Amino acid sequence: MSRPADRLAHLPAYPFAIINQRVRQLTQQGIDVISLDVGSPDMPPPEFVIEALSRAAHQPNKHGYSGYKGAPEFRRAVADYYQRRFGVALDPEKEVLPLLGSKEGIVNLCLAYLDRGDLALVPEVSYPAYSMGAYMAGAEVYWVPVDEQFLPILDAIPTDVLKRAKLLWVNYPNNPTGATVDLEFYQRAAAFCAKYDILLASDNPYFEVTYDGYIAGSALQVTDFKPFTIEFISMSKSHNMAGWRLGAAVGSAEAITNLLQIKSNIDSGHFLAIYEAGAAALNETPQSWIDARNAVYQRRRDLILSRMNRIGLTAAPPKGSLYVWAKTHAGTGQDYVEGALNNAHVSFAPGSMYGPGGTDYVRISVGVPDDQLAVALDRLEKWQRN
Ligand SMILES: Cc1ncc(COP(=O)(O)O)c(C=O)c1O
Repeated sequence: MSRPADRLAHLPAYPFAIINQRVRQLTQQGIDVISLDVGSPDMPPPEFVIEALSRAAHQPNKHGYSGYKGAPEFRRAVADYYQRRFGVALDPEKEVLPLLGSKEGIVNLCLAYLDRGDLALVPEVSYPAYSMGAYMAGAEVYWVPVDEQFLPILDAIPTDVLKRAKLLWVNYPNNPTGATVDLEFYQRAAAFCAKYDILLASDNPYFEVTYDGYIAGSALQVTDFKPFTIEFISMSKSHNMAGWRLGAAVGSAEAITNLLQIKSNIDSGHFLAIYEAGAAALNETPQSWIDARNAVYQRRRDLILSRMNRIGLTAAPPKGSLYVWAKTHAGTGQDYVEGALNNAHVSFAPGSMYGPGGTDYVRISVGVPDDQLAVALDRLEKWQRN
């Protein structure tokens, strides 16, 4: 048997793959497990987007390779969206790159920027792909401490670390904490990166998933720092299209070129019909659709928050993302997750999965139908009473 690469020994299994395996084991025993773990929207995209996909799929000239930079109409739609939504001008040829979901771009950016001995600056509570991408590139991770608002404390990063750092990851609205920021944060983070020659990587898939009237910004609104900033967006959460695997990287033309150099050696673009439907989603989805979808998530968020104490957790209301980030009253997040799975048959993501700052937390997804959520909360309450 051929021996797998050493790389695998340094790459932990993707945490959700482990959770899914445990849930499957219980399900095979006939147990009905309710998953509040994964952040996959449970509602469909707008109907006209599905129709656009179907129309395009029926055209005979839409089935060949689409080119390494994706379809021009999708790049143009992303640029137009940034102009309308954020007032940010992007050149669709040089500053927009379609992705097969933003996770792909995040990991490939790590391959484009990190060598052995380099460091990625990753907030101590973060989406796992930032650290996994660094490990895959043979680089190391420096876990940046976060404050009570879950913002990275940049001044706490030692100078010797900054000398080796190539990327700083930020993500607001944040997965898993739901934390949000204003433009002043992006200004500070971008100026910091420019000072130390670090690429600011702003992962922004939840920019259209917000509550209580909060409107999320873009790191690219800090116009002086475009050459130092790359931002990732995704149709997964903004338009309920997680299974479609469509996202984009935007910003620094140099970073986009470097990312494309890796990507074009790995994949050959998406199905043209998906680009076409994605462009329709960006160009034509009315704000009222986004508001109505967010109102459903907000109602679920509030239902979860109203039961927090009785299920042994404490949380502040998030203004964005698909998650409630809840602190346990007793034991670690992992203890709570195991207890909930075994006793209430409800599955959560343990906070430790998001880095060393998440140990005492669990993440609860609002991407779950109302009736299942209500049953899950009843079961958890019963378990906690016993
Ligand atoms: C913060 C963050 N970034 C990126 C992604 C990846 O999304 P996708 O690959 O579906 O675009 C996710 C998915 O949950 C996420 O939470």
